[in-house]
Amino acid sequence: MRGGLRSFIVLSAVSSAFGAWIPYSQIKNRGESAFLNCLESANLDPVVQGDSDYATDSSPFNLRLQWKPVALVYPEDANGVSAAVQCGAENGVNVNARSGGHSYAAFALGGEDGHLTVSLDKLRHLSLSGDTATIGSGNKLGDIALYLWENGKRAMAHGTCPEVGIGGHAGQGGFGLASRSWGLLADQVQSLEIVTADGQIRTASPTENPDLFWAATGAGASFGIITSFTTVTHAALDSIAFAYTFANYGAKEASNGLQAWQTFANDAVNKLDTAVGLQIHIDPGDTGVVFSVSGVYYGVNEAKVNSTFAPLLKKLGTPSDIFLQKQDWITSVLYLAGVDSISQLNTTLTPDTHDYFYATSTFVSAKEPMTQTASDALFEYFYGPGSDTSVEWFAIFDLYGGGDSAVTKVGPDHNAFNARDALYSIQYYGTIPNGTVSDADGIAFIQGMKKAIESGMPSTQFKEYVNYIDSTYSAEEAHKRYYPTHTANLTSLKDKYDPNRVIHFPQDF
Ligand SMILES: Cc1cc2nc3c(=O)[nH]c(=O)nc-3n(C[C@H](O)[C@H](O)[C@H](O)COP(=O)(O)OP(=O)(O)OC[C@H]3O[C@@H](n4cnc5c(N)ncnc54)[C@H](O)[C@@H]3O)c2cc1C
Ligand SMILES: *[C@@H]1O[C@H](CO)[C@@H](O)[C@H](O)[C@H]1NC(C)=O
Ligand SMILES: *[C@@H]1O[C@H](CO)[C@@H](O)[C@H](O)[C@H]1NC(C)=O
Ligand SMILES: *[C@@H]1O[C@H](CO)[C@@H](O)[C@H](O)[C@H]1NC(C)=O
Ligand SMILES: *[C@@H]1O[C@H](CO)[C@@H](O)[C@H](O)[C@H]1NC(C)=O
Repeated sequence: MRGGLRSFIVLSAVSSAFGAWIPYSQIKNRGESAFLNCLESANLDPVVQGDSDYATDSSPFNLRLQWKPVALVYPEDANGVSAAVQCGAENGVNVNARSGGHSYAAFALGGEDGHLTVSLDKLRHLSLSGDTATIGSGNKLGDIALYLWENGKRAMAHGTCPEVGIGGHAGQGGFGLASRSWGLLADQVQSLEIVTADGQIRTASPTENPDLFWAATGAGASFGIITSFTTVTHAALDSIAFAYTFANYGAKEASNGLQAWQTFANDAVNKLDTAVGLQIHIDPGDTGVVFSVSGVYYGVNEAKVNSTFAPLLKKLGTPSDIFLQKQDWITSVLYLAGVDSISQLNTTLTPDTHDYFYATSTFVSAKEPMTQTASDALFEYFYGPGSDTSVEWFAIFDLYGGGDSAVTKVGPDHNAFNARDALYSIQYYGTIPNGTVSDADGIAFIQGMKKAIESGMPSTQFKEYVNYIDSTYSAEEAHKRYYPTHTANLTSLKDKYDPNRVIHFPQDF
């Protein structure tokens, strides 16, 4: 134990080997717990409630969801992970992996009290062999980008936040501005080392345990604990960052702007180059809501950016501000992360952040782009209630499809990720100010954004992005939104690889 006060443990609950739940506080002596004995015998040094490290170690990224694990362990290799999973399985304790810990629903802590969290923090090996990277599942995106850059100017497509872990991110998709060129992070994975619920350390790839590979690249949280990813890498590209800001739009101009943006992005004749990463950001500024079209265009010069966006700007009008920046690859990573120095990508040197928030999402498909009615309703919400709330919100639109995008061209069943028809995602995110807004009101305010679109397009069944996991969903609702056509296969694969639901969380199969 890491400095624990052994005699003062009061834990929520732990189940016995026979499946009955015993309040943990009734276990007078930790030595009576077969489960903790099992972890200790495996030298896993569990951190439990009452230990001095417990509060920090169990602190979630989303402070709204402070689930209490029965124990946290920090194995040093796949054998340690396997031992932890077996201790959970033998003692009826559910197990969850934690890579970066940035799940919006704090599912690495179980999504409810009483689970075992297997932190992968010590699995931080990184290596490159030719163009192939091997990445321990405890690494975070900032460290990975930095390592690849510093060891041969290599790169991958992945999300923007340096602190996000590869485990959750690649396991459930992983979108970045280079994804239209190179695919989701999950698509760049060539093989995995994964500990399944029976404790076996397996390799999964398109040729070895291909069904497990299919499931773990898209529904990764349900199929085991991935200990290592082997991935392709690409030559790191220079690029131009661009941002066209419209601070003076009202709701109608902004809705028309979105309409122009999605038409431009989805033009079947003048196909948008896959080297363009394209977003819309909506932010409630001090003097009104700000609409901006921004992104990164890889491998081109400024003149090419100007000529590419000229037709769109003709529709959008004159921006209140234009930002253009020529940058090498690692500067583009810094720019997207919103940080200044390379050392801020090294998560060993920078403290982790936390927030108190709720977020959810919508995928708009290429087949059913947003109607004028729906976008009018959405932007009336942003510019109306959105400019009169103390919830600190933003919305980001990320272009997945359009042209010959690598995300969408692989086909609907490439892996478990179930939204290859997406034209773009919308993320709605709100920090709920402590004390002034209740959780329920903050959540309802953010959900109002999504409802505006849904009521404008009542016959569309919208998908959502599992990496922007909605903490309010039942398993049934989550499956409908995240895996509408893959749920049946994923459920039978879950039966095959984890029949007793050892690795389990509330939205699991
Ligand atoms: C600031 C910020 C910016 C973001 N930007 C983007 C973005 O640009 N693009 C994008 O696609 N997403 C983005 N996200 C969302 C992000 O992809 C998810 O939050 C992601 O799931 C976090 O992964 P994690 O490993 O940090 O989280 P964790 O909480 O550790 O894990 C998330 C889930 O995956 C499971 N899991 C973790 N590791 C493993 C493993 N090794 N094996 C099996 N299961 C595992 C956990 O049990 C949990 O259920 C962003 C998130 C934040 C906080
Ligand atoms: C981050 O910093 C630590 C401590 O200085 C160092 O050991 C590690 O190699 C750095 N990581 C990268 C990817 O540069
Ligand atoms: C691109 O457009 C910007 C803004 O209009 C302008 O300042 C810049 O000179 C242009 N660059 C090139 C190379 O044409
Ligand atoms: C789902 O399972 C069925 C039956 O095993 C199989 O034929 C089908 O190809 C699977 N679908 C996907 C998307 O893997
Ligand atoms: C919210 O405020 C209360 C009272 O000031 C405090 O005890 C609590 O820790 C705060 N919660 C968060 C998540 O900041």
